[in-house]
Amino acid sequence: MDLAIETNGLTKKYGSLTAVNKLDLKVQRNTIHGFLGPNGAGKTTTMKILVGLLKPNEGTVKVLGQELHGSKNGGVLKWFYEQADSRLSIGYMPELPKFPKHLKGAELLDIYGQMYGMTQQQRKEQIPKLVELVGLKGRENDLIGKYSKGMQQRIGIAQTLLNNPELVILDEPSLGLDPVGMVEVREVVKEIAKEGRTVLVSSHLLFEVEQICTHVTIINRGTALVSDTLQNVSGLLSGPAMLHVEVAKISNTIVNAVKKLPCVTSVVQTGDTLRIQMETHEDMRAQVSQEITRSGGIIVAMSQKTSNLEDVFIQLVSKDQGGKPQ
Ligand SMILES: Nc1ncnc2c1ncn2[C@@H]1O[C@H](COP(=O)(O)OP(=O)(O)O)[C@@H](O)[C@H]1O
Ligand SMILES: [Mg+2]
Repeated sequence: MDLAIETNGLTKKYGSLTAVNKLDLKVQRNTIHGFLGPNGAGKTTTMKILVGLLKPNEGTVKVLGQELHGSKNGGVLKWFYEQADSRLSIGYMPELPKFPKHLKGAELLDIYGQMYGMTQQQRKEQIPKLVELVGLKGRENDLIGKYSKGMQQRIGIAQTLLNNPELVILDEPSLGLDPVGMVEVREVVKEIAKEGRTVLVSSHLLFEVEQICTHVTIINRGTALVSDTLQNVSGLLSGPAMLHVEVAKISNTIVNAVKKLPCVTSVVQTGDTLRIQMETHEDMRAQVSQEITRSGGIIVAMSQKTSNLEDVFIQLVSKDQGGKPQ
């Protein structure tokens, strides 16, 4: 597996509090990986370790193939300098970034670009593209102080992309945004992953992760409870799926053919609708529709009911806390 991020037994303590506890986080390249957990779960701490801003107490961290041994190797600062090349391939947006209000959006990007060592020509080419990508075209010469929270977050995302990083780490990019702002940020996150980038995005909001991520790690009390593709995690604790299919020209032949499918446990017919209880939570819509069509039916509508990520998240986190709320 080609990993952009790999931690093993990662542990970070603040005094007696263990914020990250033997965390194994594996992020495959070219995925949008949701890092999901309630407030205080250890998301920000983990991300700061990944970008070299915090030193772990224990464990190993590999980012874009480069290993960082925080405690053994002379600490974060040594790593910080030694791994300059790999850090230049990482874009990072901290939680609730604050930018100088007296700067214009484009000026901010220009200053960051200079810090990255970009030439004037490179900045001239790159900045307008980024401004457009994050939906701030036409507003780039307004003062950041006049930007909405959502626009500030989006200029923050543009800043993470200046050096065209392979890996982008975004810490709760839609924190504190209104619903419209959240949608806009989500669209930008999806967009930046398109060019072969890996995106690790943290959130305490399930629906957000569900809408943008291909993979998800659920973290609670510093430990990963589950980590897999979004589809597998969503289906993990769900019972078997149920299919509702509306069929024109329904007949006993169709009903019996569906009943005989190995993935089907029972079929209930009400008028033109079949309620098909599946044996697994996997998506068997293709097989079922093929069988119905083969038996002479015409599918008018089909829907599948499975439990969503929210069910899984609540079940996992409450089980981890002995069923008690935090
Ligand atoms: N600088 C700090 N000093 C002491 N405790 C901290 C510090 N930063 C975070 N914590 C604690 O560590 C835990 C994890 O925090 P954090 O990584 O910010 O979680 P999340 O980002 O998931 O909300 C929390 O209990 C938090 O209170
Ligand atoms: Mg946080």
